[in-house]
Amino acid sequence: MMKKTQIEKIYENYEDFTGQSLLVCGWIRSLRSSKNIGFITLGDGSCHRTLQIVFKEELKNFDEISRLGVGSSIGVTGILVATPKAKQPFELHANNISIYGESPSDYPLQKKKHSLEFLRTIAHLRPRTNTFLAVFRIRSNASLAMHRFLQEDGFNYIHTPIITSSDAEGAGEVFTVTDFNLEKIPKTDQNEKVDFSKDFFGKHAMLTVSGQLQAECMAMALSKVYTFGPTFRAENSNTQRHAAEFWMLEPEVAFANLNDMIELSSRLVKYVVKSTLESCEYDLEFLAKTYDESLISRLEKTTDEDFEVIDYTKAIDLLLKSGHNFEYGVEWGRDLQTEHEKYLSQTVFGKPIFVTDYPKDIKAFYMRQNGDGKTVAAMDMLFPSIGEIVGGSQREERLDILCERIKELGLKEKNYWWYLDLRRYGSVEHAGFGLGFERLIMYLTSLTNIRDVLLFPRTVKNADF
Ligand code: 4AD
Ligand code: MG
Repeated sequence: MMKKTQIEKIYENYEDFTGQSLLVCGWIRSLRSSKNIGFITLGDGSCHRTLQIVFKEELKNFDEISRLGVGSSIGVTGILVATPKAKQPFELHANNISIYGESPSDYPLQKKKHSLEFLRTIAHLRPRTNTFLAVFRIRSNASLAMHRFLQEDGFNYIHTPIITSSDAEGAGEVFTVTDFNLEKIPKTDQNEKVDFSKDFFGKHAMLTVSGQLQAECMAMALSKVYTFGPTFRAENSNTQRHAAEFWMLEPEVAFANLNDMIELSSRLVKYVVKSTLESCEYDLEFLAKTYDESLISRLEKTTDEDFEVIDYTKAIDLLLKSGHNFEYGVEWGRDLQTEHEKYLSQTVFGKPIFVTDYPKDIKAFYMRQNGDGKTVAAMDMLFPSIGEIVGGSQREERLDILCERIKELGLKEKNYWWYLDLRRYGSVEHAGFGLGFERLIMYLTSLTNIRDVLLFPRTVKNADF
């Protein structure tokens, strides 16, 4: 059998392929035929562009091919012919078409526009639409770009566990992992609490909310590390930017402070945006045409502007002075809501910004306390139209202050014994951040709902497929 050629490869150097015999496999995007000639638009997912197939009545299965529906899978052997006068630069003149799988007329993705809401109900088929083909190619390219950027910068890729017994954010928004028979959960006698000592792991285990604490162990050995994987949050937030399962990139760096993370994260984000512009040109053009005309110019601007840096106190000040009527109250000590984040980055600055030095009481226990006794060395990167994409901090490296904070927050010191050991043996200034990968993909695609940048979104009351 002949070797298959991907459509993307043909576009990359079609001069070399012209006049050659090729085998191309894909799915029919559209088909029209008359008595003795037919035309198929074939896609194989390798790129946004499709291949025009010309087939003639000489083919023994001409009638059968002519009746094929949208979505049918075929393999075409033919000669690539240049078509300088036509819309597409070349076409494949078929001398054999094998039909692999027909697609009858109840195929839900007939050639017409479907709403994103409808497509969510057929999430197993929506990857075949131009929108989702673009999203998933951009996702793939962006994750590779992040790896490339970090690897070239001397980072090691580590794999932190998905099952853990520590709630890294201390926020209690965790999914429990158990093999208990839920109808007969053992209870401790005294207070009717679940007796996790009888559970599979002998303690309360959960799906990780962040790989940070384990990444810190590795940074204390390898200096510069990152973990990239799925993270889970049982947050009861039914919004356009929260998912119960999402991917997070988490770099962690020893001998580094908060400013180093501001610098690193902005360089990283710009690098990924630039790589998307360079590698996903046709997908971006399609998304711009379909969803947001300003997409490409917005991305181009992001690659060469300096992100603003303001502290939380200044942010509160700006929000109070804005005279804008927010749904959620603005007051020093309260967390910023999405509407505040968007207002600051979109309306006040018109570009991505960092907000730093948040009140310690709205941030996690591990963040390094500033000298003022009120704030911590934290940073959030906020994007216009999306809000928070990155959250990070310098970590508390001083054993006594960290123990004190753990106590203050009512957390159990003994659960963090190994984390505290990092402060006992060769402790050093270190810092890191978490980048919400889906939020970045939303920015790169201009899709406004996180459900449309995940293959099978897991959200409140939804884990279909
Ligand atoms: O700000 P977060 O909660 O930070 C951490 O988990 C730190 N431990 C990271 C670190 O310093 N290593 O989450 C980081 C990012 C957020 O900025 C946001 O982009 C994304 O993860 N994120 C979510 N994305 C989708 N759905 C959710 N429910 C998310 N929660 C956080
Ligand atoms: Mg955060």
